[in-house]
Amino acid sequence: MDILNAFNEYETAAQSAIADATSAEQLEQVRIEFLGQKKGKLRDLQALVGKATKEEKPVVGKRFNEVRTAVTEKLEARLAEVATAKTAAESDFDPTLPGQAMALGNLHPITRTITHFRELMGRFGFRVVEGPEIEDELHNFDSLNIPMEHPARDPLDNFYIATATAMAGGPILLRSQTSTVQIRTMEQEKAPIRIVSLGRVYRPDAMDPTHSCMFHQMEGLMVDTDINMAQLKTVLAMFARSFLGPDVEIRFRPSFFPFTEPSVEVDMKWGDSWMEIGGAGMVDPNVFRSVGYDPEKVSGFAFGLGIERFCMKHFEVDDIRRFYENDVRFLKQF
Ligand code: DAH
Repeated sequence: MDILNAFNEYETAAQSAIADATSAEQLEQVRIEFLGQKKGKLRDLQALVGKATKEEKPVVGKRFNEVRTAVTEKLEARLAEVATAKTAAESDFDPTLPGQAMALGNLHPITRTITHFRELMGRFGFRVVEGPEIEDELHNFDSLNIPMEHPARDPLDNFYIATATAMAGGPILLRSQTSTVQIRTMEQEKAPIRIVSLGRVYRPDAMDPTHSCMFHQMEGLMVDTDINMAQLKTVLAMFARSFLGPDVEIRFRPSFFPFTEPSVEVDMKWGDSWMEIGGAGMVDPNVFRSVGYDPEKVSGFAFGLGIERFCMKHFEVDDIRRFYENDVRFLKQF
């Protein structure tokens, strides 16, 4: 029916005019145009209703009422909307104001160094493993070939935990070295092995600018059928170079550790001076035997580096205690 089409067109036109209006004034214009009693478009529709045939009338009349109600309601709703909405100019929002700076934290320098070390060693194919900080004597001493009478076992040089010891049925202590993780790894896995483990160790040292009773080490272990000292030197040199730049030198000095034979202490040239970075050596056959490896079939190297030492040099921190005081003024610098 043409009449109904006319209604639909009217409704569509009215709806979009209402939606486009952005002020009460504009809406008043729309009202006059579409709903006005005198010469609004609604009057034309009303005239159409008048012309409808007797049969058409009920349908057309109903539709007329529907359209009028719909348009009127829409107009009122939009009127309420524009009344509350503010224009950009009137709004309280000022896009030129500086934003509120968020207080962002940052990573602790030790954490950053650890992440960096992991990443470097990862590139050389060393997998990162973890071990517990509370250990038994088997892992902290026995399997590492540290004899009963060795001074490293002295209760005054270790944090033995009395209550835990009683509960565990044997002596328990806070690990004094990450070398424990060498043992734990070899107990679980067969060679070849290439791991690093970075974590906390504990020793009852008096706190001073270079000593802390808790600090961090990076332990490394590589075991295969043909591992030699030259590879140890290469890996440590590569590590040092990637950390400090291509010209850095490292040197080995003969030393002794119960778990390596031969053993060395490793120094790294940092600026004009040599810095001792840790101990290393070829895994002692007794260590292999303690974890069920055959020292005739496998060989390996191991190393242990102090992380704080690198961190202090790298970030120019002159007192190790600064790392643990949680002084935000200090931590903010990194
Ligand atoms: N565990 C030794 C320490 O804490 C450091 C060390 C030396 C680790 C030689 C090693 C190593 O793996 O081969 O003093």
